Amino acid sequence: MSGVLRLESGVVKLQTASLLSGCPTPIGNSSLRKAAVGFGHRTQDDRLLLRGFMNKEIRALFPVTENYIYFNHAAVSPLSTRVREAMRWLVDDVTQNGSVHYFDWCDRFEAVRQAAARLVNAKPHEIAFMQNTSAALSAIANGIDWRAGDNVVVSKVEFPANIYPWMRLVEERGIVMKMVEERDGRIDAEEVISLIDERTRAVSLSWVQFSSGFRADLATIGKFCRQRQVIFMIDAIQGLGGLHLDVVRDSVDALAADSHKYLLGPEGIALLYVSENILARIKPTVVGWMSVNDADNHLHYDLNYREGALRFECGTLNSAGVYGLGAALELFLEVGAGKIEAHILSLSDYLAQQLTAKGYAVFGSRKVGETSAIVTCTHPQHPAKPLYELLLAQNIITAPRVGRLRIAPHFYNTHEEIDALIAALPE
Ligand SMILES: Cc1ncc(COP(=O)(O)O)c(C=O)c1O
Repeated sequence: MSGVLRLESGVVKLQTASLLSGCPTPIGNSSLRKAAVGFGHRTQDDRLLLRGFMNKEIRALFPVTENYIYFNHAAVSPLSTRVREAMRWLVDDVTQNGSVHYFDWCDRFEAVRQAAARLVNAKPHEIAFMQNTSAALSAIANGIDWRAGDNVVVSKVEFPANIYPWMRLVEERGIVMKMVEERDGRIDAEEVISLIDERTRAVSLSWVQFSSGFRADLATIGKFCRQRQVIFMIDAIQGLGGLHLDVVRDSVDALAADSHKYLLGPEGIALLYVSENILARIKPTVVGWMSVNDADNHLHYDLNYREGALRFECGTLNSAGVYGLGAALELFLEVGAGKIEAHILSLSDYLAQQLTAKGYAVFGSRKVGETSAIVTCTHPQHPAKPLYELLLAQNIITAPRVGRLRIAPHFYNTHEEIDALIAALPE
């Protein structure tokens, strides 16, 4: 493996193949490892966080709050200082030391994998690091052994990352893409189920819709799919981090989520969860030297895939990205996914109420279980784009999407910030 090659001119370490990472496992040289692990450690602000939920210490982790009221987490989220420091640490380490601490990075990758698994109630080997949501969705879509005439069920309002992989399969493999209507801003679980037939191989939906914030009823759809051996996969990028997810409880077979939205991590590093339950049905379609066991044994070619989802990691990881994602995940685990969800939903409800009171039409469902952080609205006189620009001029960051104003807070936002947004909006 190239890690070994890089190390040949650096520190000499004994290694064995690591079951989880494909990275060689270091033996010995603990002082070096201590110096290098760097992140995943606790700093002084950690203790402050544990005292209460929403407090100025949490706010201070997000310097964006000094300059903006930031309600655009459904696009690209600002980084916390912890994420920045974790990434900086790695960048500095490579700058100063090249590959010398390579094995320590590998240890860190595995700790981050474990944190990701904990966040969604998966097993660590069911988690792979991917380049983005699109690549993760495609790994599943392309890995299914399709027969012409098989079908996939999606919705008519999916972000295109969850449409184009299927359109390609329609062209290349003759599959059928069935699309559920959005009705009054909802994707009805029973309507999804009604489209499933004996040729349905997969249902692929956004957990939270990007243009409305509607949250799908995963448990109902997942249970139905599990009973019929239909693969249930979700694009979780607009929910994960903000809302609590349990892939076991909800019978989710696969999940894809880049880290730059509700996970509050950097761009270009995504989580792919592949349940043990479907692994045998998903062939890796992008394969490289890291896809196999004993990856260090370079000239012993043996296409013997790594355990679980790890086979979908085909080559060297985005190491700075994993470091950043790790810091973001650890913050969620530390604060508590349940508390974060409760605060976010309270912000979202308050926002919807205040918008309505000011004469804005809030789009979609406000039913318990169907809401998320994202609220979208329209006004009879004011189109979304000028509203977005007007708010931007006051350093309040939102987004115009499909003709609606999209307002997408996260857990460090406050009710007072919502009051400021409402005050800034015209009657
Ligand atoms: C629902 C959804 N999926 C995926 C993406 C982005 O996909 P990727 O991580 O491949 O860039 C977005 C971005 O706006 C999105 O809203």
